[in-house]
Amino acid sequence: MIKIRIRFEVQTERMKILVTGGAGFIGSHTVVELFNNGDVPIIIDDFRNSDPFILERLKEITGNTPVFYNLDCLDLKGLEDVFEKEKPEGVVHFAAYKAVGESVEKPVMYYENNIGTLINLLKLVPQHNINYFVFSSSCTVYGDPEVIPVTEQSPIQEASSPYGYTKQVCEKMLQDFCKVNQNIKTVLLRYFNPIGSHPSGLIGELPNGVPNNLVPYVTQTAAGQRDQLTINGGDYNTSDGTCIRDYIHVSDLADAHVKAFAFLQNQISNFHVFNVGTGSGSTVLEVVKAFEKATKVTVKYFIGPRREGDVVSIFADNSKILTELDWRPKFSLEEALLHSWRWQQSLSD
Ligand code: UD1
Repeated sequence: MIKIRIRFEVQTERMKILVTGGAGFIGSHTVVELFNNGDVPIIIDDFRNSDPFILERLKEITGNTPVFYNLDCLDLKGLEDVFEKEKPEGVVHFAAYKAVGESVEKPVMYYENNIGTLINLLKLVPQHNINYFVFSSSCTVYGDPEVIPVTEQSPIQEASSPYGYTKQVCEKMLQDFCKVNQNIKTVLLRYFNPIGSHPSGLIGELPNGVPNNLVPYVTQTAAGQRDQLTINGGDYNTSDGTCIRDYIHVSDLADAHVKAFAFLQNQISNFHVFNVGTGSGSTVLEVVKAFEKATKVTVKYFIGPRREGDVVSIFADNSKILTELDWRPKFSLEEALLHSWRWQQSLSD
């Protein structure tokens, strides 16, 4: 018997994509990857967690000046004007608050912003011929998982913070929305721990005040802005007693959004969920050691008490995104940390 092998080329088209929160950490890196792919990103941001210089840097990196609207996504009329003027085909929604501790202090602010902005978008999307929607979700929806690595089928558990709950509510809203809007194809991306910066060091994370997240704290300590890093607990049941996370380079994460839009163009079903992680976990101490190895800079630290609400260990089973989206992480942990350091140094200059 003669076997004939037919190769199907996946057809994708370049498109105009509205990027809410496009000047933020993950948003700005996604704008770079969209430009690299030949797409036309339209940024909406009000710089509450970013700065106008990021737009200049995007131009420096990509050679393109992104179209930009200074707008709060809670402003429904303002959003509608952008939809009417730009006529995008796709939307990627980043604009949201993301600090776990702050969400405990100011739950209503989190519910209003994170859920309200999605409601506004979902009011407009069906009226404006939007075909594709990508939503920025988080592995926080898995809570404290009983089995790791977590797959997309792992149970959604009670959220440990209002921030986590907003992600769960938004995921459910999108699921319900998709049932009655079959023509709008949607991907939820559940991010693990985004770190790093564009390899140029020109864009990166701009933490507001004292960083909550590990890597900005490490880089600020290495730069001498903080006396020392507190490691939140050293008595967990892990190889060195510190918590395990799946740290993913932000440019790899950004690339997953480009791949998600390409994937959606070839789908019949309209609701999809993917974990975006490297598939391996690192302890906090391993991150500190990898940073020191990559940068040759010593980080002063001490082991402090556990942080309330911390999950002991979580990392992604990423087999679904590897096979279905043809996505692969390109950067190692050390490269990601070196890029974070480059960005930190550019801020200290
Ligand atoms: C949290 C959220 C995640 C969100 C992410 C980005 C949960 C469970 N996780 O991730 O959804 O996307 O923030 O905002 O809601 N650490 C220290 N010292 C520090 C800072 C952190 O030891 O100064 C430790 C933490 O205790 C943790 C690890 O480093 O073990 C990572 O912490 P962090 O960067 O804050 O991210 P997550 O809490 O994992």
